[in-house]
Amino acid sequence: MKEGPLMEGWFIILVSACVCVIVRAIFSLQTKTINTPPGPLHIPIVTSIQWLLKSFSQLEPILRNLHAKFGPIVTIRIGSQRAIFIADRTLAHQALVQNGSLFSDRPKALAASKILSSDQRNISSASYGPTWRILRRNLTSEVLHHSRVKSFSGIRNWVLQALLVRLKSDSQSNDSIRVIDHFQYSMFCLLVFMCFGERLDEGKVRDIERVQRQLLLGFTRFNILNFWPRVTRVLLRKRWEEMLRFRQEQEDVMIPLIRARKQKQGKDEGVVSYVDTLLDLQWPEEKRKLNEEEIVTLCNEFLNGGTDTTSTALQWIMANLVKNPQVQERLVGEIREVMCGREDREVKEEDLQKFPYLKAVILEGLRRHPPGHFVLPHAVTEDVVFNDYLVPKNGTVNFMVAEMGWDPKVWEDPMMFKPERFMNDEGFDITGSKEIKMMPFGAGRRICPGYNLALLHLEYFVANLVWNFEWKVPEGGDVDLSEIQEFTVVMKNPLQVHLSPRI
Ligand code: HEM
Repeated sequence: MKEGPLMEGWFIILVSACVCVIVRAIFSLQTKTINTPPGPLHIPIVTSIQWLLKSFSQLEPILRNLHAKFGPIVTIRIGSQRAIFIADRTLAHQALVQNGSLFSDRPKALAASKILSSDQRNISSASYGPTWRILRRNLTSEVLHHSRVKSFSGIRNWVLQALLVRLKSDSQSNDSIRVIDHFQYSMFCLLVFMCFGERLDEGKVRDIERVQRQLLLGFTRFNILNFWPRVTRVLLRKRWEEMLRFRQEQEDVMIPLIRARKQKQGKDEGVVSYVDTLLDLQWPEEKRKLNEEEIVTLCNEFLNGGTDTTSTALQWIMANLVKNPQVQERLVGEIREVMCGREDREVKEEDLQKFPYLKAVILEGLRRHPPGHFVLPHAVTEDVVFNDYLVPKNGTVNFMVAEMGWDPKVWEDPMMFKPERFMNDEGFDITGSKEIKMMPFGAGRRICPGYNLALLHLEYFVANLVWNFEWKVPEGGDVDLSEIQEFTVVMKNPLQVHLSPRI
């Protein structure tokens, strides 16, 4: 008699458990669980730290192996975050172009990035929404609008002439010249003028170059500060202080230039600079103008976007012209046909459209050596099922730019420098809107807004550099195409050349 209630209790538990199992079984038949893309084994904390300590260049060969094992879309886990990597151009097109509204967000900024981006108030880190739209529209419809870009042609000529003088004087006293510093300085002169609207003296431009590059080159070292900020603020206190000091130095250099521009507002002199447009801008929701720190953040983005990427690409292209003299000669031949009979030594911007081979050389340079091997990390606006996998909202989605440009299914001898491959293509579409064959500027809604300016700078400088000098390997030297990751992927051994004037 005593066992009665006990038995009854057990019976109820047993029946409930059976019901649960049956209900779950029915549900799992109906709703197939969708997993994130496959990836390597994750051991909490240990693997996260391992990934975090790797630079992008160390990550690349590992990802290549993971793609070979798991397919074109893989996941790695860093803490609770999932980073998805897409190596296939068709999937990239599906995500970025066909499903652009879903895949155009950016991940939430973590501790250090939050400071450097003024809490995601710049174009590249803003979420896909009104802040991004207003800032991007301001850049593309103002300073990057083709009529404005044209208004800067005088400064391009000025910078070019200064570069040619420097190279000439260097080549008279040296058999072998390191050119990257000249390229970087030239790009800074150009972008600093577009940004602040002033022809600054060399000392000031060098100052801006210094504060920009120290933050840029610290990029990988400072990245770790994004994770576990409470711990790193103690353990990596010096690094935190260094980053904040660099940011302060940047403000100290730029704020006087912004104030000077503000003083000139409305006086309608000279060109309209990027800062002028930012001083006029308003945050619609807060109904206030941008503050100085926010303007510094946007100037920082503008200068980084337009200098390091372009001088890196310029160096890679010139390196390939030195390594492949027959390509250089064909290019000079093309320019000669247009320039013959002309007195001046300048290939003008209006001439550039007459040079299909020049365009092919630039495209081949960007395909073979994209300055960024990955686009900036994207995020999805909501959980998305993509290619039968779950892409979670709180993860990042990354696209492997270099892999796409080197895909042997698309490009014959992909590692060779052969501009001729672009000569058959009637106007190759670098934006990838119909199909992605390579994407050095990204694709879709977040595509680099500066790609036309970058192409103009590359075409103008490459044409004039080969037209004015013969670029050769110095006696006993070589052109080493090994890569190393800085902010962009640069030449591990910077290009050294022997220059002889062509006249
Ligand atoms: C050879 C030169 C350049 C290369 C290879 C390059 C490449 C890229 C790439 C790969 C992205 C990321 C796209 C994505 O996340 O999907 C990007 C974004 C961006 N680039 Fe460039 N870029 C270059 C020049 C420039 C120039 C000249 C400017 C401006 C003056 C610029 C400003 C930007 C900005 C503001 C973004 C963020 C766009 C957004 O998030 O909406 N870039 N660029």
